[in-house]
Amino acid sequence: MSVLPIAKLGEPVLRQVAKEVELDRLASPEIQSLIDDIVETMHHARGAGLAAPQVRHPLRIVAIEVKDNPRYPYKPNIPLTILVNPQLEVIGEERFENFEGCLSVPDLRGRVMRHARLRVRAYDRHGQAIEQEVAGISAGTFQHECDHLDGILFVDRLVDSKSLCTWDNFRRYHEDEFRKQVQAVVQKYGA
Ligand code: NI
Repeated sequence: MSVLPIAKLGEPVLRQVAKEVELDRLASPEIQSLIDDIVETMHHARGAGLAAPQVRHPLRIVAIEVKDNPRYPYKPNIPLTILVNPQLEVIGEERFENFEGCLSVPDLRGRVMRHARLRVRAYDRHGQAIEQEVAGISAGTFQHECDHLDGILFVDRLVDSKSLCTWDNFRRYHEDEFRKQVQAVVQKYGA
């Protein structure tokens, strides 16, 4: 396994629509070691998720894991999840405001609206079909990662460009208020 360099804002690979993984190639050593590398790179960078295009492979694969993450101390935990060719179906009309960051957008965070409930259909790394519902803050993480597969970054979805701030200034000026919003979302959706 290796830690791969992460593509940063401005690299064309982040703006491509990624290709579906052919399921008969999923078991190949190339794809399996790419998945291992995505997980290791996500852990190394302490991300809550990482999509294949962020390590310069324009394929529809994302990894998500939140385990007491120091970058996002208020995020509910999510077990390690690999999604291959994911499809997100929005359930209902509810949305909430999230304050997002991204390993491909260094030192910036900003406010984004996300759907509060989703049905996720995908394959796991062994080609088994996955279908699950996710809600709340975790649903925001799934949307952020799957957006990468369509060449979309959180900065494209800002509620207001004036909400952009550095990580230091997020902690200094915005984190306390945002934690209260997160608590309300977690109370409502359980995640
Ligand atoms: Ni991201």
